[in-house]
Amino acid sequence: MVSLSHPLYCIAHRGGRRKGSHSSENTLKAFAESIALGVDAIEVDVWQVGGQLLVTHDRRLGKTLPGKGRLMDHTPSYLRNLEMECGSQIPTLMEVLESIGEQVTLNIELKGPGCAQLVAKTLQQYVHDSSGTYEQYLFSSFDHHQLFQLKQILPQVRRGVLIEGIPLTYARCCEPLEAYSFHPNVDFINQALVDDAKQRGLKVWVYTVNDIDDFCHLSAMGVDGVFTDYPERLLKLNKDLRW
Ligand code: G3P
Ligand code: MG
Repeated sequence: MVSLSHPLYCIAHRGGRRKGSHSSENTLKAFAESIALGVDAIEVDVWQVGGQLLVTHDRRLGKTLPGKGRLMDHTPSYLRNLEMECGSQIPTLMEVLESIGEQVTLNIELKGPGCAQLVAKTLQQYVHDSSGTYEQYLFSSFDHHQLFQLKQILPQVRRGVLIEGIPLTYARCCEPLEAYSFHPNVDFINQALVDDAKQRGLKVWVYTVNDIDDFCHLSAMGVDGVFTDYPERLLKLNKDLRW
């Protein structure tokens, strides 16, 4: 029987992108479905287009969004009117903040250049208007410069450092950012990287993990959490362990 060594923190990757479901990634519908399943956190991708923060993953149209060309070459109103196959439209970051409220942790991943200031301003406005706190939020990016900008504007919001491969410095790249977590790619993860991150007091959240044998292997390595497109698979393993 397959089982985890310890429960893994369950982060719905792009809010959960279950194929064959009626929802699509990065939509309010997907977030609601994942929250109903009992995920610990939702991860969303944010682009700044023409002064608006849009929650979507791809740099180009043609996959989840109908049409062609670069996201950046369209106006926000044009993009907001596009209908995905599931019938949903691109939400703004503010709509996502309002829809998730205080239900779960929200990991806001910054895509593309020039998002940091507007992301910080939008979150500040939401927290102010809703009399909320910053505790449930976490910023992440492959662009560590933007994370540094965010640290200067909103130091109280946790930061997660995304990496694609294995840096020569292992997890030391997290130091200047005073990061909460380190987010490596499952394709490159190794024990030395996990051990280095743990010794530095970082949570290790691995992306993108969808297979049960990978969940078990990563749990045995001491990883803390995973980004998954199929939260229900991980939640079942977590539940089996608790019984
Ligand atoms: O934040 C983890 C993961 O979402 C990073 O990759 O390309 O799916 O945004 P991507
Ligand atoms: Mg992402």
